[in-house]
Amino acid sequence: MKYKLFALSNSEAYAKGIASALNVTLGNLLTRTYSDGEINVEFEESIRGETIVIAAQIQLPYHNLFELFVAIDAARRASAKEIICVIPYLTHSRQERKDDTRSAISSRLIADFIEHAGASRVITFDMHSTAIMGFYKIPIDHLSMNRIYTEHIKYNFKSESLCLCSPDFGGLKRIKAYKSLLNCDMAVIHKERLSPNQINSMEIIGDVKNKDVVIVDDMIDTGGTLTKACELLKSNGAKSVTAYCTHGVLSGNAINNISASAIDKLYISDTIPQSKLSKNIEVISSIKLTAKAIEFIIAGKSLMELND
Ligand code: R5P
Repeated sequence: MKYKLFALSNSEAYAKGIASALNVTLGNLLTRTYSDGEINVEFEESIRGETIVIAAQIQLPYHNLFELFVAIDAARRASAKEIICVIPYLTHSRQERKDDTRSAISSRLIADFIEHAGASRVITFDMHSTAIMGFYKIPIDHLSMNRIYTEHIKYNFKSESLCLCSPDFGGLKRIKAYKSLLNCDMAVIHKERLSPNQINSMEIIGDVKNKDVVIVDDMIDTGGTLTKACELLKSNGAKSVTAYCTHGVLSGNAINNISASAIDKLYISDTIPQSKLSKNIEVISSIKLTAKAIEFIIAGKSLMELND
C-alpha cells in the first residue's frame, strides 16, 4: 500500500467512508485521555517511512483540534515520511483578518500550529476565504461542494424559476461560480452585523418574486443569517427558499430555529459530523470527493478535474 489512513477519535465514520471508497483498511490510532482531560495519542503500528493520511474533523470543542496537533506530532516522531491531514472544515476560518483594534487573527494561529506540528499537506473544503491558504507554507488542496451541489440543484429546480442568492457580499464570488454552471438569475443580500452571530439589518438586491430561491453559503452556524434571509426573501415574494451550505456548524439552538423557520430545505455536507437533524435538514456527502482527492494526490495527479 502506498499510504496508510488513520482517523482522530471523532472522525472515524468519515474515515471509514473514505476507506471503503478507496478499498483500504483504516489503521489503528489510539487516543487515550488522562483523568484531567489531557490527550495521549499513539500509532499502534509502524509508520516509519510511510505516507500517512489523518482524517481530522476539528470542529469545536477544542479537544478535536488539540488531538490533531498531538497526532501530527506523534506521526512526525514515529518517522512518517509525509503527513497528509484531511481537515474538511477548518475551524476559526471566520477570524482570518483583524477587524477590531486589538483582536487576533486566530485562523492564522491554527495554520501555524498545524504546520509547526509537522503536517506536510492539508486537504480541506470550501474555505470561508481562500486568502487563508496564504497562512500556510505547506500545500493546501482546496476542494469544493460546488459541483455536487450544482448537480443537485439542476436535478431539483427549473432554471427559468431559479434564483441563486448570496446571503452577504462575501459570498458573491461563490454565487457567480454557481451561476456560470446553472445559467439562472441571481440576487444578493446586504447584511450588516452588530457582533459575531448577531445581525443588524438585511436588504435584498435583485428580484426574487415568484422565484425558487437557492441560498448558497460556506457555513451555517446559529442559522441567524439563513432564517433572517429566508423571512426577507419570502416577504419579497419568493415561492420557495432552499439553502446549500457546506459546513453545518449548527451551534446553539440552530436546529430548532431552522425547523421552526419557513426554510423549505437546508442541505449541508458531512464535513462536520451530525447526530440528530430536523426534517428540513439533509446531508449530502463529501466523502467520495475526499477519497478521489486522496487517490489523485497519492498518484501525483492534478485535482483540477475534481473541482471545475
Ligand atoms: C459569514 O460570513 C458566513 O459565510 C456565514 O453566513 C455565517 O457564518 C453564518 O453564521 P450564522 O448561521 O450564525 O448566521
